[in-house]
Amino acid sequence: MNRKDVLDLDDFSRDEIERVLASAEAMREVLSRPIRRVPPLRGKTIVNLFYEPSTRTRISFELAAKNLSADVVNVSASGSSVEKGESLVDTIRTLQALGADVVVIRHSLAGAPYLVAQHLRGSVINAGDGWHAHPTQALLDLFTIRQRFHHLSGLNVVIVGDILHSRVARSNVWGLTRMGAHVVLCGPPTLMPDFGANGHRAGLPPVEIDYNLDRCIQWADVVMALRIQKERQGGGMLPSLREYVKLYQLTEARVKLARPGALVMHPGPMNEGVEIAPEVARGSQSVIEEQVTNGVAIRMALLYLLAGERADLAVA
Ligand code: CP
Repeated sequence: MNRKDVLDLDDFSRDEIERVLASAEAMREVLSRPIRRVPPLRGKTIVNLFYEPSTRTRISFELAAKNLSADVVNVSASGSSVEKGESLVDTIRTLQALGADVVVIRHSLAGAPYLVAQHLRGSVINAGDGWHAHPTQALLDLFTIRQRFHHLSGLNVVIVGDILHSRVARSNVWGLTRMGAHVVLCGPPTLMPDFGANGHRAGLPPVEIDYNLDRCIQWADVVMALRIQKERQGGGMLPSLREYVKLYQLTEARVKLARPGALVMHPGPMNEGVEIAPEVARGSQSVIEEQVTNGVAIRMALLYLLAGERADLAVA
């Protein structure tokens, strides 16, 4: 890839996204082998620097790096010198001195990965920054949708839930619209960013806004439910959880309203019984587990394209 960092999808061209998805296809083939280890990152050091909790993203980056034969170091804020007051920039200078080739960072502050990218000679991958962006999640979502439909252009994708606090929604809006999909954002007005009357918001491509899930789901090829992010909300954003569940929970009855064969997605972690009914999460239209599996392939593809030697993908 002709870039140093992956910070969001806003600066990704269609060709670049195609390239990542094609590389992830090759990585899926590697993952299907009895021995999943290939050599392109031999001798490279990948640091997973996580200042916020994570299960899927952190573990899949670790597996991805190991599958590509990299050395992997996991750092979390607790137990590191961050607890003694070390600044983010000093932490990055330390990782630089220790030979980090790629830093994968998750941080509660929007923009933190951009600061890191200014101070690290190696590559930086944003694994989620505040409410802002989660580009690797959006890429694995695009990959999962395309795996089923064989294309993205022209699909109707409804993203429903706590849009306001969702970095997943923002990065998906960039990725999906760049690939020609039509995006509808749905949720209560208090959990929706302030879009103008024509669906325009500074810093995002145009999308459709609908506060009525029963209406907009009827045209959906894909429905992506988002977690209610209680940890990022102040009080008073929902009249009541019961009311939210009644209007916005993805239930079996609602999924039946969508187009035949519509996919059900969720980036995880889920609040089952809140934004999604358990039987929908595990139902025949759910691709939630495929999203997790595809996360390893997408992260292998990104590490390979950013830092890999041009070795082929023969076994290590
Ligand atoms: N989707 C996602 O980012 O999950 P984790 O918080 O478990 O990494």
